[in-house]
Amino acid sequence: MEASTPAWNFLLNPPGVERAYLEALQRHFAGWGGHAEFVWWFRRPVGAPAADLLVLTTGGDTLVAGAAVTYRRLGVGSERQELAGIVTGAWTAPQYRRRGCFSELIERARRVAGGRGATLLLAFCSAEQPARAPLAKASFAEAEGWHIPGGGGETPPDRRARRPSNADLHRWFHENRVGAGVDYPTVEIFAEQALLNHPLTRVAEAPGGLWGVLAAARSGGGTQAVIAEELMPDPMAVAAALGVWRLPAYTTDPVVAAKVPCTRSYVFGITVGEETPPPPWPARWALHMMDRA
Ligand SMILES: CC(C)(COP(=O)(O)OP(=O)(O)OC[C@H]1O[C@@H](n2cnc3c(N)ncnc32)[C@H](O)[C@@H]1OP(=O)(O)O)[C@@H](O)C(=O)NCCC(=O)NCCS
Repeated sequence: MEASTPAWNFLLNPPGVERAYLEALQRHFAGWGGHAEFVWWFRRPVGAPAADLLVLTTGGDTLVAGAAVTYRRLGVGSERQELAGIVTGAWTAPQYRRRGCFSELIERARRVAGGRGATLLLAFCSAEQPARAPLAKASFAEAEGWHIPGGGGETPPDRRARRPSNADLHRWFHENRVGAGVDYPTVEIFAEQALLNHPLTRVAEAPGGLWGVLAAARSGGGTQAVIAEELMPDPMAVAAALGVWRLPAYTTDPVVAAKVPCTRSYVFGITVGEETPPPPWPARWALHMMDRA
């Protein structure tokens, strides 16, 4: 940051900021949704602290930049659970870009998340995103991931497919994954997070014990889907068995990434608090597109 950069005024959850924050997201973050998406990302009970909205202002009412921190309980190895903050929904108004606003908000987020009892901050980011450089700079570790694009229209589910219950999926999701991942405390919270009850979502189990999400709804900045790569040993086989292709997903499994067209992305680990040393960084993650917010 240059010495002449103005010092912005930092505010944490200022009263009534929601409306202006949503307007800013819609104006500055292509593809962000409406009020319903805002509530879904930031105001829905998730079994962890409520999301924080961090903003920089000019000193008056004008918002310059914003970033949100959502919270999730992570399962990190046997019986161990940690609270993680996730930096998400960040934007800087175009006339203020490249002046260190997002970098400052990352620093602010570290302190805010530390104050909430989080042991680390996570951030998901694709390789081409302008946000990548400041996140990489602030991070102590990163895990490679891949975004597997969805699309191709809606395909009718295979008639032979069976729909596993939400309770089945909740159990499979937690019991069979390999690596650190988000713990969803109840079937209801899991079903809501994964949009299992959304009319556009199709979940099916194909003959041979393969299962996957066939189609999922678009929400906010991304397509949500619950695909646990550990439960889906070969996405091609699942797609073939169910008669579909191009399942939208986010995977941290290089074996899956090697089998499908996908774009490189990262999960960054950022320390919290002022002096807190980095926590152990899991050797393997089981994070999914839907875990982002
Ligand atoms: C991504 C975004 C929030 C960055 O905000 P910002 O306040 O401009 O970021 P900073 O000034 O802190 O940038 C710090 C560094 O990031 C990198 N960077 C930021 N924008 C960049 C761009 N457009 N192209 C290349 N690098 C970029 C640079 O390394 C920059 O340092 P430098 O200016 O000294 O070279 C902003 O571009 C934005 O609002 N984009 C649209 C919404 C969005 O994509 N949000 C990200 C969600 S994850």
